[in-house]
Amino acid sequence: MAEIMKVVTRNMDVPDQHTIAVAMQNGAYEQLKKALEMTPDAIIEEVKKSGLRGRGGAGFPAGLKWSFVPKQAPKPKYMCVNADEGEPGTFKDRVIMSKDPHLLVEGILIACYAIGIRDAYIYIRGEFVEPANILQKAIDEAYEKGFIGENILGKDFTCHITVHRGAGAYVCGEETGLIESLEGKRGQPRLKPPFPAVVGAFQGPTVVNNVETLANVPRIFEHGADWFAAIGVEKNSGTRLFGISGHVNKPGVYELPMGTPIRELIELAGGVRGGRKIKAVVPGGSSAPALTPDQLDTQMSFDALGAIGSMGGSGGVIVMDETTNLVCVLTRLLEFYAHESCGQCTPCREGVAWLKKIMQRIRRGQGKIEDIDLMLEVAGNIMGNTLCPLGDAAAMPTRGFLTKFRAEFEAFIKSGANAEGTPMAGEGAVQVSVPAAE
Ligand SMILES: Cc1cc2nc3c(=O)[nH]c(=O)nc-3n(C[C@H](O)[C@H](O)[C@H](O)COP(=O)(O)O)c2cc1C
Repeated sequence: MAEIMKVVTRNMDVPDQHTIAVAMQNGAYEQLKKALEMTPDAIIEEVKKSGLRGRGGAGFPAGLKWSFVPKQAPKPKYMCVNADEGEPGTFKDRVIMSKDPHLLVEGILIACYAIGIRDAYIYIRGEFVEPANILQKAIDEAYEKGFIGENILGKDFTCHITVHRGAGAYVCGEETGLIESLEGKRGQPRLKPPFPAVVGAFQGPTVVNNVETLANVPRIFEHGADWFAAIGVEKNSGTRLFGISGHVNKPGVYELPMGTPIRELIELAGGVRGGRKIKAVVPGGSSAPALTPDQLDTQMSFDALGAIGSMGGSGGVIVMDETTNLVCVLTRLLEFYAHESCGQCTPCREGVAWLKKIMQRIRRGQGKIEDIDLMLEVAGNIMGNTLCPLGDAAAMPTRGFLTKFRAEFEAFIKSGANAEGTPMAGEGAVQVSVPAAE
């Protein structure tokens, strides 16, 4: 069985680790001191060497992203910390912010020093009232100690950090939607290029990084890039905070080396409740196409999951047991994505709404067999045809469920059952018998 490896979460069980006094006893801000003795270029090289990839969803190399920001720019540069955590099934950034906020603050400061940024905004999901309060308190304490503000630690480095609370829209987790929202506008993603590294917040070059990505940075400086690069698997270094939920006995956040097989995470989480069989597992947030039981030995890395047509995404793993009605699951997901579409792009606004309506009809027992191919066609017309990947995020699980579990969808349609208002799984869920594959 896999072993938990506490890199980011190392101090999270220490009582009062969220306070600066306890955090400093455990080494907080020591890596900032070290980094401020280095040149900004050397810091970026170190992060590149570590192989740290973004933990927000796309797995983009962090050091490379930082190096894209022009050194000299006519406008100020900004850091936007993505703490929106809106992807269903994802709940790890809130743990970092609540339990060890100074680790995040230290990571932000090192990144800002390396890129030449004086202003960082932590864009935090509006519903995260408690994490936002803890974070604000931590920032206030760090200001008092001189770790944030003017001439930090007596050096020629000034940096301010502001917590900005969102208003609860999934699309504001998309980096350019986030920037628009931060600027006080409606959260609608921008056309790219230009990319935020060149024209981002307030027209200045901007880096958008996920909370977990930045929380790894102090550890890289503590132990060295080579140490970090040796954890995990090739091109997928370090650990990940996997949030596992659904039908497991011990749901929660588990930090494991990148590349751990999914099956081992499920075992760590106490296995499937009631000893039932697994029907499907979503490996990286609800946008990631679900895996079938025969795929559970796949390594949880960006590349291995990508290679089998799914994705590592946000690290949110959702386990569904054999009692799960996938018609209900897909309908619920599409209700979410249709609700969250910002409406700018026709394929997403209309296409996802139609996918939702067809699924609702199927769930009511009024579906037709042709609906499955119709939905696959609509999903295919959404993929890659929108300004931001929200349309893809709805189309990918649609394709995944309808192709991998087609027999179940067909059997449900043929049965004429009505599952509206019924539970998705367990007692009371509508079950249809699916003919065995030939
Ligand atoms: C619809 C949508 C929602 C997203 N939500 C989040 C989010 O809540 N948190 C996050 O870190 N990234 C989210 N992303 C990914 C961001 O656009 C971006 O890639 C990420 O913040 C970059 O940080 P990283 O390189 O450190 O991963 C979302 C993307 C899309 C398309």
